Amino acid sequence: MPGHRFEAKHHKKLESSYRKKILPPAATLKKFGLKKGMNVADIGAGSGYFLIPAARMIGQEATAFGVDASTEMLEIIRRRRHPSNVELVHTKDGYTVKIGSGSIDYVVVSSVLHESHPLRLLREIRRIMRSGATLLIIDWRKDSLRAGPPVEERLSPEQVRQLCGKSKLKSVRTTILNSRYYAVVAKKA
Ligand SMILES: C[S@@+](CC[C@H](N)C(=O)[O-])C[C@H]1O[C@@H](n2cnc3c(N)ncnc32)[C@H](O)[C@@H]1O
Repeated sequence: MPGHRFEAKHHKKLESSYRKKILPPAATLKKFGLKKGMNVADIGAGSGYFLIPAARMIGQEATAFGVDASTEMLEIIRRRRHPSNVELVHTKDGYTVKIGSGSIDYVVVSSVLHESHPLRLLREIRRIMRSGATLLIIDWRKDSLRAGPPVEERLSPEQVRQLCGKSKLKSVRTTILNSRYYAVVAKKA
């Protein structure tokens, strides 16, 4: 069962200075291989925490797609100052993403997988990835109890790796990022 969806009214939490300190968006994307010219999709883009820095990093020749199931969240991004290579995509059912098959070089899914049917979402993500593309999954550690979603709804890195395998994505690296988050990187063969 999917966990609770993050409510748009709490969007300021996503942009807190503490979060920016422990999870600096541009540095995190760079650390896991985002480069100029790559087409990016941020699935569950929220307030644009990763989307807007990603759009700047890839340059005007490439596109940063911000995908969200919440029209309220997409409206928050729309109202922010953002580069013109940002394209917003609403997914009505949360699992059908209007982006062409094999068109994306780098996907980021941060604090989203535990809110969804992860397998359904990962299969759709795999569809939009080109061969060799990178998928960066960031999610909450189960042993971080001060904030975040209910612990029973969180996925462990091992569970995420298994789900990647079931979606025919090859998980290549697990990293503990800080006291709250871990990252799993996967590739489409
Ligand atoms: C906790 S917020 C994280 C936002 C952003 N990724 C970040 O790290 O700051 C989760 C976001 O994912 C969206 N979401 C949840 N499930 C989704 C799905 N299946 N497809 C698209 N968006 C989804 C929610 O609407 C919300 O905006």
